[in-house]
Amino acid sequence: MSLSAKADTPQRPALSAERDRAQTDHRAPPMSTRCGSDSLRFLRSWASDPLRVAAIAPSGVRLAELITREITPDHGPVLELGAGTGVFTRALLARGLAEGQLTLVEMGPDFAALLRMRFPQARVLQRDAARLSASVLFPQDRAGAVVSGLGLLSMKPRRVLAILKTAFACLRPDGSLYQFTYGPRCPVPPSILTRLGLQAQRIGGTWANLPPASVYRISRSAPSPLPDRS
Ligand SMILES: C[S@@+](CC[C@H](N)C(=O)[O-])C[C@H]1O[C@@H](n2cnc3c(N)ncnc32)[C@H](O)[C@@H]1O
Repeated sequence: MSLSAKADTPQRPALSAERDRAQTDHRAPPMSTRCGSDSLRFLRSWASDPLRVAAIAPSGVRLAELITREITPDHGPVLELGAGTGVFTRALLARGLAEGQLTLVEMGPDFAALLRMRFPQARVLQRDAARLSASVLFPQDRAGAVVSGLGLLSMKPRRVLAILKTAFACLRPDGSLYQFTYGPRCPVPPSILTRLGLQAQRIGGTWANLPPASVYRISRSAPSPLPDRS
């Protein structure tokens, strides 16, 4: 799928049309239209890079509600990793967070361009979540929560370790990372949790998702061996 930041060129009709609609009509497109086009976008992105996208369809609304269930505006700023088409981002906004409190990290150029258009006041970084620097991302205020839409099961342990390390360096001491999985257990291997002084607790699951998914809250177990910053 050839969506990119230069969305107004004739080669990029889908994003261009959506942006024009957003500029002339500030109401969001109907949910059914948006879901349909997002599903198509997702499927195309998955076909071009299945390991990165790691899902054939965007997460459903029920999973988005579940993964953001414990997050309130007091948790801002919030970091979202692997934001895709913004399903979890919308749920965060519905929880009362302001767009300006959100940092969205998305490696795919098409999805990053879409997120910039949909959430113009959020900070959107087209970056690899395994190569972020916490002190650059959050030089002052730390995040109260991290929401991860990353497909950790399709990543090498070394990348999962790097992502978790940075996420916890971005988080306040009492902050948590929320991670979903299609698998039967927490997608972060126990050896990585132990090494970083973390614990994982399943907070729920939903069958109303394709495929059915669960959510884990990952937090520091005291005392944590994690360095303060990276
Ligand atoms: C399983 S999809 C989830 C997308 C969205 N959060 C949702 O639930 O519909 C994983 C997303 O993470 C992005 N992604 C994968 N690896 C990444 C990485 N290393 N850094 C940032 N984003 C990544 C993919 O491009 C994709 O948008």
